[in-house]
Amino acid sequence: MCAIFTGKRLIYLEEVNSTNSYLSALAAQEKVVDGTVVLAAHQLAGKGQRGNVWQAEKGKNLTFSIYYSPAAMRISKQFLLTQAISLGVYDYLCLRCTKVKIKWPNDLYVNDKKIGGMLIENSIKGELISQVVIGIGLNINQETFDASLQNATSLYIENKKIYNLEDECKTLLSYVERRYLSWLNGNHAVLKEQYLNVIYRYKSWHTYKLPNGSVLEGMITGLEETGQLLVQDPTGVQHSFANQEIMF
Ligand code: BTN
Repeated sequence: MCAIFTGKRLIYLEEVNSTNSYLSALAAQEKVVDGTVVLAAHQLAGKGQRGNVWQAEKGKNLTFSIYYSPAAMRISKQFLLTQAISLGVYDYLCLRCTKVKIKWPNDLYVNDKKIGGMLIENSIKGELISQVVIGIGLNINQETFDASLQNATSLYIENKKIYNLEDECKTLLSYVERRYLSWLNGNHAVLKEQYLNVIYRYKSWHTYKLPNGSVLEGMITGLEETGQLLVQDPTGVQHSFANQEIMF
């Protein structure tokens, strides 16, 4: 499978601070073609979620950003875009691994370990999403991780195989584009249902840490329209969490 327009313009950089920052700055300077991709062999200051740094060994992983300019998509559909792109990466990973899950909201897990993540940065005009920069970091050929990243894995660790990064990137882009188009075309009910079916720890009991230091025993039961996570406690009460309000 080949992408139709995603990556047709591909900017390859040996080194950059962050592909997301590079692409956002480029879009502020010039008209960027829909589907432009910036791919880096190495990021000096890769941005992760919650202000974290995204660490990835030089030349061994996929670190890239995609530029899309969706016409007339309302900001209320932002979380659906997160779901769509997560499903695109999920679809790709399912070609390479079993036990793939999406950890709400947009981490990719294999065998209970994090293999990738994304940082989606939207620009808003009025009520509409005018542009999106979708940054994806996926661990491919990295063999070991820093002690601070105990819960990380890669395709190499899972399959003991070295992958060709260019080929993997092409395949991944085609799956991400497919889900992006599905979102753009309004197939939102299907995206919601498929996302829920593959989320990590869905409908099983676990303990969760809350920011005030307390622990909640609970079961993920679904999502609110806004994307908040619904967790039921043992007494049957449903709790709703925004990103960063529950840790696992
Ligand atoms: C996370 O913390 O899980 C999100 C990681 C997103 C990392 C990717 S790597 C390519 C792109 N450029 C960045 O600076 N960040 C994203």
